[in-house]
Amino acid sequence: MKDTIKDLLEEINSFNTDSSEEVEAFRIKFLGSKGLLKNLFADFKNVAASEKKIIGQALNNLRNTATDKVNVLKNTLESSNLDKSNYGDLTRPAEPLNLGARHPISIVKNKIIDVFSRIGFTVSEGPEIEDDWHNFTALNLPEYHPARDMQDTFFIEKDPDILLRTHTSSVQVRYMENHKPPIRTVSPGRVFRNEDISARAHCIFHQVEGLYIDTDVSFADLKQTLLYFTKEMFGKSKIRLRPSYFPFTEPSAEVDIYWGLETETDYKITKGTGWLEIMGCGMVDPNVLTNANIDPLVYSGFAFGMGIERIAMLLYQIPDIRMFYENDVRFLEQFKSVI
Ligand code: DAH
Repeated sequence: MKDTIKDLLEEINSFNTDSSEEVEAFRIKFLGSKGLLKNLFADFKNVAASEKKIIGQALNNLRNTATDKVNVLKNTLESSNLDKSNYGDLTRPAEPLNLGARHPISIVKNKIIDVFSRIGFTVSEGPEIEDDWHNFTALNLPEYHPARDMQDTFFIEKDPDILLRTHTSSVQVRYMENHKPPIRTVSPGRVFRNEDISARAHCIFHQVEGLYIDTDVSFADLKQTLLYFTKEMFGKSKIRLRPSYFPFTEPSAEVDIYWGLETETDYKITKGTGWLEIMGCGMVDPNVLTNANIDPLVYSGFAFGMGIERIAMLLYQIPDIRMFYENDVRFLEQFKSVI
């Protein structure tokens, strides 16, 4: 009997498995109602009285060892099953993350900022609610100037006039008032005009204004900067500057880029000419420099301004400006792949 107990103890100690069926078979073999231990305990009555104590202890130890073994194996299996149900199959493709998309206005704005920041321009911002001075008067648009009618204005208060800025050129005045040349800055922001809403116009839209002031800044610097911009932004390297009029610049020009006439859309958006107008620009009028306490005899500079919606419509072929403001996810979702 002693030898049997010793052999079984060894068998129990060396047993190991990761299958719950084998654990159960092991339990039945040793601890089941017809198991080995039951038989051994039954044989116990035949053990000589002198050996009863020692064999009894050995039998109890055998039963406890078998019970512990079953419990330990069961627990281990259970916790590893738990892990499996927690993590599932780790080789399985993951659930897709619900990614948001940047608004196309932000995408284009960031792209413009990026292009100009590479040649040393910083970003500046100003208030959307402006006074008459920064939106008009300092920009060489004194009271009763007919060019004020170029931009229909939302007024908030009269005398003194407080209004919603009609362009981000107001930020150029604020920037010049607070910074000494050399100045290189772009000012993105929202602007407001009292206009009828249609597929091509809205009463709220976005602009980026650019300003460069230093000694000896010439029209050639302006043209070269704009050429760099159109190459980087649109991958187009042909531009033309058409003479135009803005009160705050002299001379002034409108910038067209050669878009091409390869597709039907090209024909449509360029009205069959291949050329597209993308912004206004010019050399900062000496009066504007004086108004901002910069000496026009020492410094000169150029400025430009463009509409972000217009550029986004061109880049992504968006047919209606109202789509930017409706927040329809079917529209917004399409910009997921663009950063
Ligand atoms: N402020 C003009 C507009 O809203 C755009 C513009 C034109 C800005 C020429 C400029 C500029 O700085 O030089 O129509």
